[in-house]
Amino acid sequence: MSRFSEPQHPDFQRLNASIGFDRRLWPQDIAQSQAHARMLAARGIISEADGDALIKGLQAVALELAEERFPFDPGDEDIHMAIERRLTEIAGPVGGRLHTARSRNDQVVTDLAMFTREAAVAAGAAIAEAMGALLKRACEHAATAMPGYTHLQRAQPVYLGHHLLAYFWMLERDRRRFAYARREAGRLPLGAGAMAGVNFDTDRAMLAAELGFEQVAPNSIDAVSGRDFLLDFLGAAATCATHLSRLGAELVLWSSSEFGFCTLPDSWSSGSSIMPQKKNPDAAELLRGKAPRVVAHLTALHGVIHALPLTYNKDLQEDKEHLFDAADTLQLCLAAASGMIAGAAFDEQRMREAASDELIAATDIADLLVKLGMPFREAHGVVAGLVRTALDSGRALSELTAEELAAQSELLGAHQGEFREVLSSSSWLESKISEGGTSTARLAEQLTRAEQALDEDPFG
Ligand code: ARG
Repeated sequence: MSRFSEPQHPDFQRLNASIGFDRRLWPQDIAQSQAHARMLAARGIISEADGDALIKGLQAVALELAEERFPFDPGDEDIHMAIERRLTEIAGPVGGRLHTARSRNDQVVTDLAMFTREAAVAAGAAIAEAMGALLKRACEHAATAMPGYTHLQRAQPVYLGHHLLAYFWMLERDRRRFAYARREAGRLPLGAGAMAGVNFDTDRAMLAAELGFEQVAPNSIDAVSGRDFLLDFLGAAATCATHLSRLGAELVLWSSSEFGFCTLPDSWSSGSSIMPQKKNPDAAELLRGKAPRVVAHLTALHGVIHALPLTYNKDLQEDKEHLFDAADTLQLCLAAASGMIAGAAFDEQRMREAASDELIAATDIADLLVKLGMPFREAHGVVAGLVRTALDSGRALSELTAEELAAQSELLGAHQGEFREVLSSSSWLESKISEGGTSTARLAEQLTRAEQALDEDPFG
């Protein structure tokens, strides 16, 4: 019997169906259903024999799904209904008992929470791999000087290892964001029923323990309508993808002939279909290009949840594709980042040359004047004057005459020896002695901290 007198419009079926994308939740749905059947039997809500038949039948369905020979039916609206239909075909009418004390509303969000917890762990592992690659290259290049930039103008020299570790720390925070997202998905929704709870004395603690949840969601209304654990996951993914976009952008610049700082591995590069000489940094470009898509998934889900009345509404079916695509896209981006960092060949000579531009020592000269007693703002002006004189006459700072130095500042005129010393060596790097700075000693400290951070497991 049905309460409807007309069949569904085919376009409504297409609009309404989620089977096209939620079928990938089948492993979670099977595991959940088996746990549910076990619990129903343990509580005497169904017989032991029925419980066993359901668990065995679900096993057979899982095998069909795993071997990609599950017979999907045009009428299957979503993975939950498809599995129950097939279970009943295989196990007989007992299949109809599986949905006792459960609704698709608590079922779907339980599958999603399980998926999210696994995806967060996978993202954490992929992040750790990228962190490891960055740390290894940072150790190798702890003494490779390169220009640091502000406004993409050469600012101050740093060691390449220092620069690479900047990305290490971004990813270290991202990994903790995923660990947080995993914990937030750790309250079991199952047992909330359609929204008010169910008419049976179920054992939700047993379900939570069996399915690896830390707690039971305390409010059935919140349990079926809440999706903020997905916002937490997507937030972590969006931030991480955005960090990778900055790395990608730098790799694109660095691998250009104009910079010439690195060559990317062939295994992460493409050729051109028309220009045979070209090697294109497509993977690095895609780190840039994919990030806004992940961010869009986050904002889209905010849109779905915004002003949505409690409790379950079909709008919530729109959570899945955002989650899946964000998780898949990020995983690929992390693999690309690890591969490119591990395989990049850095041109130390070229980087060192770019870092030995004397103008890059301007701040150090200003600091020399400060140490000699001049207020920093005034010293800034004096050095700006020197830079201008040098640029106007096409000379380096070290080529300025004693008179020119004295003309800018009497103090400087009286300390020419120190001035020339500041310009003469890699002292610009080694002078950065503050904690977290680029000097060799501070960078060594940082490398040690990074090693410790990599060994920590925020998921534990
Ligand atoms: N496919 C649905 C979803 O993804 C499952 C829940 C359906 N619940 C319902 N009351 N129609 O949200």
